Amino acid sequence: MYKIGQKELDAIGEVLFSGKVFRYGIGGACTNFESRYAQYLGVKHVLMTSSGTTALVAALIGQNIGPGDEVLVPACTYIASAIAVLAAGAIPVVIDIDESLTMSPAAAEAAIGPHTKALLPVHMWGLPCDMDALMAIARRRQLKVIEDACQCVGGGYRGRKVGGIGDAGAFSFNYYKNMTCGEGGAAVTNNDEALPRMGCMVDCCRFYWDGRQANGTPFVSSGSRASEIEGAVMNCQLDRIDDMIAKMRAQKTRILAETADAGLKPLKANSLDCECGTHAGFLLPSAEHALAFQKIYPCTIAGKTGRHVYTEWDPIFAKQGAHHPALNPYNLKENADCRRDLTKDQCAASLDILNRSILVGTHPDRSEDDTSKIIANLRQAAEQVL
Ligand SMILES: Cc1ncc(COP(=O)(O)O)c(C=O)c1O
Repeated sequence: MYKIGQKELDAIGEVLFSGKVFRYGIGGACTNFESRYAQYLGVKHVLMTSSGTTALVAALIGQNIGPGDEVLVPACTYIASAIAVLAAGAIPVVIDIDESLTMSPAAAEAAIGPHTKALLPVHMWGLPCDMDALMAIARRRQLKVIEDACQCVGGGYRGRKVGGIGDAGAFSFNYYKNMTCGEGGAAVTNNDEALPRMGCMVDCCRFYWDGRQANGTPFVSSGSRASEIEGAVMNCQLDRIDDMIAKMRAQKTRILAETADAGLKPLKANSLDCECGTHAGFLLPSAEHALAFQKIYPCTIAGKTGRHVYTEWDPIFAKQGAHHPALNPYNLKENADCRRDLTKDQCAASLDILNRSILVGTHPDRSEDDTSKIIANLRQAAEQVL
């Protein structure tokens, strides 16, 4: 959680005392956030959900992804990206990242097989993927692109906001994200035809509340509707995001500039001017260098977070794709020809990059003096380790 204050408290109080916490029929806080966020992102449709995971599932199902389909997922992401693919009934195929810590376009192109239906690039740690290259591949090979922008709320790529560049996108508003309402998310798309299916995933009873006509043929899903309390908080958070991002980006720019002669190699940036700036990252010569650096300066090693690397995805290795074997996508005959096996060394090149990558977090409330101290410490650690 980056910033929360009196405005959020007042907005929650207003909703609670109004007695209107259910989002339908009042044109209230959720509807307002959805239209404001759509405008902010430059997309046609935004649907608030209860989490980033459910937003990803809705985004995938909106694009008709399901049994028989493979979706390419990067080796570095939170497990939810792969889980969402399985929740849609499809199979995640894990592929390499590059030195930007995001999906490698070359690996994506090489991994496309006869059952591949979509790419799921993940804008990790506020760092946008190489969307021009990925979109070009997807269009040429007739694949869908579902952007996982859960960790890149407020971020952009070459002048456009992430999440709205592919066919659909998903955001998380959980506690750790740039905008938060505790738990929450949003699924987005420009595609009118995707909307009824996406909406049905978010709330399969939606047709009772906002019309049978607009909602296509409903199917059964588990509900992930947002409440007006979340909508109210998100409207306040949206007012804060640009200022926060500008401050974090400026901090990152300063860290990069003032460590440029310290022998530290910055991670490859796909769109430095537009990214979130939540982390400055450096690629060290070896995993040993990264560990030694971390001992002197307590930074994050990208490969050691315990949850953002495919090797940590226990249910995927165990092929436990559902609560019941008959519903498990790994057992479905439609998926028999998909590439269902994942091995720990499948993306060895990614592991090498991740174990060499150190990340230094920024914060919108950090003073210039504190940033100076961080820079001095980074320089000192570099001097000792490199
Ligand atoms: C890259 C990524 N994708 C998806 C998710 C899932 O979001 P949520 O926790 O809101 O379900 C997260 C959450 O941390 C994430 O980091």
